[in-house]
Amino acid sequence: MSKVETKKRVKVLNVSDLAVGIGQRISVDGEEIALFKQKDGSVKAIQNSCPHKGGPLSEGIVSGEHVFCPLHDWKINMKDGKVQAPDVGCVKTYEVAIQENFVYIEVPIIE
Ligand code: FES
Repeated sequence: MSKVETKKRVKVLNVSDLAVGIGQRISVDGEEIALFKQKDGSVKAIQNSCPHKGGPLSEGIVSGEHVFCPLHDWKINMKDGKVQAPDVGCVKTYEVAIQENFVYIEVPIIE
């Protein structure tokens, strides 16, 4: 039987709960996600686990659209999830919507 993947939108928190430059860890359906509010007010959402050795990216140092893993300093782009050279790899990214000051994350539903 083949798997059908669809997405659902989950309300996670208020935009005012986030601060620019400081990551916030949330959990949606058992998935750990790191949220980052950008200077322009948008919010990026990526998997909260570094592809190197699982460092918690929500505790990383933020620089523009990148976050540095708190364990060994890999640099990860929050827009596309790609690890920056010379390191390689990527993390999952999630679509974010902001409506009436609430942050919604789109997560897959696997049937
Ligand atoms: S666990 Fe993130 S750089 Fe090593």
